[in-house]
Amino acid sequence: MKNLIVANWKMNPNSQKEAKDIFDAIREGARGLDAEVVVCPPAVYLYASGFGQGIISMGAQNVHFEDKGAFTGEISALMIKDLEAEYVIIGHSERRKYFGETDESVNKKIKKALEAGLKIIFCIGETAEERDAGKKNEVLERQVKIGLFGIDNLENINIAYEPVWAIGTGNNCSVEETKESVNFIRKFVKPKTRILYGGSVKSENSGGYIKDAGANGLLVGGASLSAEEFVKIIKSAE
Ligand code: PGA
Repeated sequence: MKNLIVANWKMNPNSQKEAKDIFDAIREGARGLDAEVVVCPPAVYLYASGFGQGIISMGAQNVHFEDKGAFTGEISALMIKDLEAEYVIIGHSERRKYFGETDESVNKKIKKALEAGLKIIFCIGETAEERDAGKKNEVLERQVKIGLFGIDNLENINIAYEPVWAIGTGNNCSVEETKESVNFIRKFVKPKTRILYGGSVKSENSGGYIKDAGANGLLVGGASLSAEEFVKIIKSAE
């Protein structure tokens, strides 16, 4: 299976034009490269950025766990699917921290997104406090087990291991520590399940996660807003 390289644009950029420019440049740069590339823009751009022409897949950054109804501000898995996006990020630590997502709501979202035929990028990761208290593995195990509770077929599940302290801080997790966590997480999923690393990934550090830590891909935030930098990251994962 190819390595999976995912761009998480978060709440950026501020115009359709900018989104389209970055997207087009990524698509040009990614042509012919041997990795599966997914761009997850804000949902309003899923339509506007145009589709990857078989080179890039699109993904959303969040989804609601009901099909439809009185949930102001939310989007459903069916809406995402209808826009021909293939993927959705679920359980990102920013959603857990700022929007009250729990392991239980993440589980419901994953089930609903799978039902709609979407592929999942399921985020887990410990905070600095949890790591310092020696609770990393306990947290990862709980997040994976509850997040995937009742789901037997993991074919469309990808796990993104993102230590919260490494996200957006420039303080990326070492290859050694990532390797330990990737191996630990692997115990709870299928041998074929892709496990990605995320947290301050840049082109200078990206290759090591794939080549030495045993990750099967990367979830890239800040650095994915520069097409040039993101294309370098994709190349490092070939
Ligand atoms: P970062 O974000 O690459 O900016 O650290 C990663 C993420 O939040 O997915």
